[in-house]
Amino acid sequence: MSHSVQISTSKFPSFSATIYGEGNEISVVLIHGFPADSSLWRKVIPLLAKQYQLIVPDLPGVGNSSIAAENFSMDDLAEALSVLLKAQQIDKAIIAGHSMGGYMAMAYADAYPEAVLGLAMIHSSAMADNDEKIKNRKKAISLIQKGGKDAFIEAMLPGLFTKDFREKHPEELTQQRSQALSVAPEVLTAFYNAMINRPDGQNVLRTASYPLLWVCGAEDPLIPPAKTMQQTSLGFVNFVEIYNNSAHMAMLECPDRLAVDLDHFASYCYAKQTAHLSA
Ligand code: MLT
Repeated sequence: MSHSVQISTSKFPSFSATIYGEGNEISVVLIHGFPADSSLWRKVIPLLAKQYQLIVPDLPGVGNSSIAAENFSMDDLAEALSVLLKAQQIDKAIIAGHSMGGYMAMAYADAYPEAVLGLAMIHSSAMADNDEKIKNRKKAISLIQKGGKDAFIEAMLPGLFTKDFREKHPEELTQQRSQALSVAPEVLTAFYNAMINRPDGQNVLRTASYPLLWVCGAEDPLIPPAKTMQQTSLGFVNFVEIYNNSAHMAMLECPDRLAVDLDHFASYCYAKQTAHLSA
């Protein structure tokens, strides 16, 4: 059973999410990355919804959420998530973000630390873009604005998966490709600008009072394990999982293992909080 909820903020006319497993005691927010929508979590949701209340948003301009009225920041996205969770009377949740969803999760953890039960960074990073990354994003924005959206998607998509996965599961690539191709050019550029402008979040990790889970793919060209490992000792409790059979898309490449790791992490965070409250 699932149902949709929707809120609006000054930046976003409609920001929506689907809720699965309503009423379960522990809430887990699953935030998709770029240029995906909430369907990215299709394989993980059935594995977790019996035990957890899952809140799975569509970021502005994809899935059921309408496009933003103007450019937005990661902080604006975090604010929308906070409004949505408060409307559901969810005071504290595990916040799990995939890649760009992790950048948004960092902004949320920075602004609302008391509402974070645990932070799961899935193929993601707390670091800001470096100069080279910004240069490449600006090149991509210029290509997209000149009508090259499809070429941009076709060039980026295959590299998100391992070669083995691409060969064995062409249907998953087809689904991701057709979803990505349906995203409007102005939505893609708004996301890229929000990523370029996001601040470095390493201080958020240094002051985090909640546990962190780091999931990285051994073959991830975007956020390689070495980059993740630079950040895994900044927080005070860190779980680190390196997936040998994954590039950038563990939720499709190894959903069973990701669901198990999220389950263990969420149970740990909940037990830790319960022990703290009863101490
Ligand atoms: C994503 O998967 O969300 C993006 O590739 C992240 C990025 O470009 O930094």
